[in-house]
Amino acid sequence: MNVVLGVGGGIAAYKAAELARALQERGFKVQVVMTAAAQEFIKPLTFAALTNQKVITDLFAGRSAEETLSSAVEHIRVAQENRLLVVAPATADLLAKFAHGLANDFLSTLYLAFDGPVILAPAMNTNMWNHPATRNNIRVLSERGHVIVEPDEGLLACGTVGPGRLADPLHIAEIVAQAAARRDDLRGETLLITAGPTQEPLDPVRFISNRSSGKMGYALAEAAAARGARVILVSGPVHLTAPNGVEIIKVRTANEMRAAVVEKLPEATVIVKAAAVADYHLADVPQQKRKKTAARLTLDLEPTPDILAEVGQRKGDRLLVGFAAETENLLEEARRKLVSKNCDMVVANMVGKEGTGFESDENEVILALRTGEAISVPKASKRRIADRILDEALKLRLALHATR
Ligand code: PMT
Repeated sequence: MNVVLGVGGGIAAYKAAELARALQERGFKVQVVMTAAAQEFIKPLTFAALTNQKVITDLFAGRSAEETLSSAVEHIRVAQENRLLVVAPATADLLAKFAHGLANDFLSTLYLAFDGPVILAPAMNTNMWNHPATRNNIRVLSERGHVIVEPDEGLLACGTVGPGRLADPLHIAEIVAQAAARRDDLRGETLLITAGPTQEPLDPVRFISNRSSGKMGYALAEAAAARGARVILVSGPVHLTAPNGVEIIKVRTANEMRAAVVEKLPEATVIVKAAAVADYHLADVPQQKRKKTAARLTLDLEPTPDILAEVGQRKGDRLLVGFAAETENLLEEARRKLVSKNCDMVVANMVGKEGTGFESDENEVILALRTGEAISVPKASKRRIADRILDEALKLRLALHATR
């Protein structure tokens, strides 16, 4: 597999040579791209000798007009010919450029043109790493689905002790190998994913709903599409843009969500129910706006259809992943839902707690599997959590096929 190794300008640039070697030993063909600053720390010749390939050093530097013209689309060619982009060391400057979409040299231009998995291994001084600007850029890049290989702690070249040292090149190479194995592992699968809240009208202007933003479900859709799956996303009302290449069906109520799921069920091989479906609705919604009076208002609500339970009954050999949003007894509740709704996996998350569950950019979950296993996934971006859920779903699906 062809990968690009982007080398940024930091003292750790020399370790990128070790990484290039480790990648080659794992069977990757490595195209090195160096920033101008990187060339101050290590010469392109080192990488050219190691990879047996010409190193790309800059977009325009030192080129004649003819060469510039013929190389004007080189970043597009490199983006198309390579399946993975790994940047090590990813300096604070590169992280900022990537986060904000600046494109003023070959590596940053390539980054924008590239649509495959991106792995970033930052290295910098501890204060720079801890600076709110860098933290913010890391959050943006992580939410974009990029893998961040956290720097190690230790004595840095600047003399300070703390986080900022480039991770071990062998560790980075291992993460690249894992990402490469993942790249197309869902090809041939059709994922039917639900996301967001539902809104249950009380009259033409009012409704009952909940705090779901849709971020978890959309992250799952994005991750599945990036791994080659066909994705059908049934979404309640949210303020998010559907990920590229995903077929979206917009619904409002639990009944509409049920109808869309039932209609698309025959096409699906895996169903993931991340939506927070309202549990109650008003059966007879008045045509006119309710007038406000001084009297108390009592609403006679009835349960909405339990879509997960219905899919559990009709799923056949499809893989069913439910969610459980709980405020206590997380694993017990997840296991109860796993059995009662005939799921293969239930993703349990705490809600009502700051920083995870509803609305937040991160989540922390326990995966309760039908094998009896329970896997705790520590706090990470919803995009990373999505990949972890898909990893386990895929394993269960392969096991299901093997036993048929
Ligand atoms: O959207 P975000 O802001 O990113 O927040 C993510 C999330 C907290 C909404 C998500 O991670 C989550 O937990 N989704 C499930 C929320 C929920 O409704 O949980 P529940 O325990 O009430 O329902 C259990 C399961 O039954 C869920 O898979 C739900 O989709 C499904 N269900 C529930 C009711 C119903 N009438 N029909 C259903 O299919």
